Parts: sequence; C-alpha cells; structure tokens
Amino acid sequence: MQSLCGKTLLATLMHAPVRGDVEIIEDALTVVGGDGTIAAVLGPDDDAYAEARRTAEAGGTLVTTARHTYLVPGFVDLHIHAPQFAQLGKALDVPLEVWLQTHTFPLEARYQDAAFATRVYAALVDALLANGTTTAVYFATIHGEANRVLAKTCLEKGQRALVGKVAMDNPAECPDFYRDPDAQAAIDETLAFIEDVQAMPGNAEPLVHPVITPRFIPSCTDRCLEGLGEIAGKTGISVQTHCSESDWQHGYVRDRFGKNDTFALDDFGLLRHRTVLAHSNYISDEDMALISERGAGVAHCPLSNVYFSDAVFPLRRALEKSVRVGLGTDISGGPSASMLESCRWAVSASRQLENGVDPTKEAGARGTPDSRIDFREAFHLATAGGADVLDLPVGRFAPGYLFDAVLIDAEAQAAPVFIAEDLDTLDDILQKLVMTATRANIAWTAVNGRVVSGAL
Ligand code: GUN
Ligand code: FE
Repeated sequence: MQSLCGKTLLATLMHAPVRGDVEIIEDALTVVGGDGTIAAVLGPDDDAYAEARRTAEAGGTLVTTARHTYLVPGFVDLHIHAPQFAQLGKALDVPLEVWLQTHTFPLEARYQDAAFATRVYAALVDALLANGTTTAVYFATIHGEANRVLAKTCLEKGQRALVGKVAMDNPAECPDFYRDPDAQAAIDETLAFIEDVQAMPGNAEPLVHPVITPRFIPSCTDRCLEGLGEIAGKTGISVQTHCSESDWQHGYVRDRFGKNDTFALDDFGLLRHRTVLAHSNYISDEDMALISERGAGVAHCPLSNVYFSDAVFPLRRALEKSVRVGLGTDISGGPSASMLESCRWAVSASRQLENGVDPTKEAGARGTPDSRIDFREAFHLATAGGADVLDLPVGRFAPGYLFDAVLIDAEAQAAPVFIAEDLDTLDDILQKLVMTATRANIAWTAVNGRVVSGAL
C-alpha cells in the first residue's frame, strides 16, 4: 500500500471546516506524520513554508501533485446498508414498508451465506473507496459471520468504518426468515459483535468501530430497545437507527408510543452523543431541540428520501436549530455510492423545498421560504459535518486531524468536469467539482495517510 505517512504533500487543498465557508490554499504543503496524523498545513504565505519545502525536497519526502488536481477531505457517509449494495438501483417503485417486506428483508436474509457476503462486501468497500468515502457508517445484517466479514473487509481494505449488527426481533414487523430469535439473542449478539470487532487483529488503532444498531423502532420489541440502550449507557458505544423517515414509519411510532421517534428513543437511552439518526424527515422543533441537547446527529439522505420518505428533510431549519447534520447515501434506498451525488441531491432537494413543486399553486404559496443550502454547505456536511456527528478527528485539514483525503483530478479522461481556465476562479472550480465530478475524477483516496484506492 502506498503511503503518505512521513511525507509532505504539495497540493492545492479545498476544505470547509466551518459551515458556509470554504478555505482554499493554492500549493499548500500538508505535512503528514508517521502515524497518519496531520502535523502541519502551510500556505505559501506562511513563514515556515519555504523551509518546510526545502527540508522535504532535501529529504526526498516531497510528494507533488499534477496540475488541475485538488485535495479535499475524504467523504463521511453516515448511512449505508451494506447488504443492499446487491440491489443498488433496483426496487425503487414501492413504499418503504412494502419494499422492506418484499425486496429488502429477503435480500438481507441471504447473508446467512458468508461466501455471498464476502463477495458483495468486497465489491461495496472497493466502490466506496473509489468514490472517495473514507469513513463509512454501515448497517450490516443480523448474521454473526457475515457481519464479521464486513468489519474485516473494511479493516483489510483500509476504510475507516462503523459497523453495526442489525437488531430486529419484533415478530409483528419482521418475517420469520429474517429476525433475531428474541430480544435476548439480539442483545447477546450485539455484545459479542462489539467485543469481536474491538479485538480484531490489526484493529488496535482502531480503524473499525462497532455501533449499536436497532434497525428502527417498528423492527424492535421494547425489551430489545431497552437492552440496547443499556449497552449504550454502559459502554458509550455509539448508536444508529432510522428516525421519522416516512409517513408510515413516523405514524407507527406515534401509534405505539404516543410520541415521536426521538422522544421514544430517548426513553430507551438510545438518543445520545454520537447517535446517528437516519432521515428524520418529520422531526418537529421539539425533536430538533432534543437531538441537539443530547448531542446526537442526523444522517440526511436526500436521494433516498425522493423514493421512500414522502417529503423533504427540513435541513436548513435543523441546522439553524444547532442540530448536527451529515450526509448519507442510504444505499440502496438511494441508488448511488457517491457522496458527491449526495451533495448535489442535498442542494437540489433544499431548492425544491424552498420553491415548492406544484405549479398549479401561486408562487408565494408553493414552497417553504429560506430552505436552501448551497454547494459550500453541502461540501461541509459531506466532510466536516459528518465527522462532527461521529466526533471523529477527520473531515478537515488541520494539525491533529487524521489524514483522510481524496485527490480529485479535474482533467481526468472520460469524466464530466470541464475547467474554463480563463473564466473559473478556484471557488468556481470547487463548485464544479461538487456539482459535476464523478468516480472517474478521483485519482486516489487515502485513509490515515495510506493510499487505499488509486495511486499517487
Ligand atoms: N427503515 C428500516 N429499514 C430501512 C432500510 O433498510 N432502509 C431505509 N431507507 N429505511 C429503513
Ligand atoms: Fe436506511
């Protein structure tokens, strides 16, 4: 594996450490420590720049990059269903509750076969790394062996990941062929999986983390939710689940508990610092205040929402209420493995929310004013925003952060980006990359200073 550890990278870097702002440093020097931590980021105006460059050149540790390539933080995908990669692009024409029973549960049940899991998970992790996803938050399945295959695949391929054994034990909502035998079995296997991931050879750092994963409230009995909440409280291990995703799902939880998902999750001790709430489209102002107070965050999955949510997530309102938000692809609810696509869908969805979508209505009555975000905010959410939800030191170029990064080649062959030299500022170029770049533009992806996809 090629490595940038102990090297100094000369590249034009673009990042968005603060929402709404981007910082672009032309010909920056990024000094990467031996352990993959960023030691320094220097621009040509910094006093130490010339000396750092001379030292790296003299020591043979300077790595240069080609013209029209741009270094950005690796993408943090907050919500992926690993087993559903096998149906990416299929089955998008039925509502969530039908899709789960007729397509998704039967597919996920196949991961009883660890050989099938090995094949799909290798292809998935390769695809995500090639798309620049350096941190991936995965729902796996209920299966012990296949779940360990996923964790091991991430570790071997060098992807930072959170992997969750899916807990789903409610006989009323889960089919006989795909369900934890009972609450205790779901709790015991969650504990065993946590221990095994933490003890996995080569994971001392750690690169791969376990995450407590009640699929969503409908899938779980009260006893299961209670037990998982207890584990979260005792261990401090993070939690992920689906929250207020569709009319049906939001209504189900209101019928069962007489309250919204966030308050019900909170009662079970599952709404905590670093809890990742996928979707959360129907959250109220009170839900937002509670999420923010608990230090939990939302995985906004704008493309998946087109197919399964019946509405657009009120992103701007959530951000203004200090809710931490990152982006997710929600493979395969969202039929794309690209976080750049997630950025574009986040921008587009926010515009549709602001404008409204029904042309028979008067312009003034059509949409929800002040809902839009722009490419800078989307870029922030896909990098630093997601990292903040997970509380991981990635997503920015600054001393002390881990060097998880992507080099985007704006001039890659057979790729859609076009730079007009005489027109485009560096800010324009970043906008073009966020709005048009694809996997073909990604020259390499690095995690912890090691090149895990492509080549220097
Ligand atoms: N809610 C419960 N399970 C799922 C899933 O697999 N995908 C989505 N989008 N929502 C869910
Ligand atoms: Fe999901």
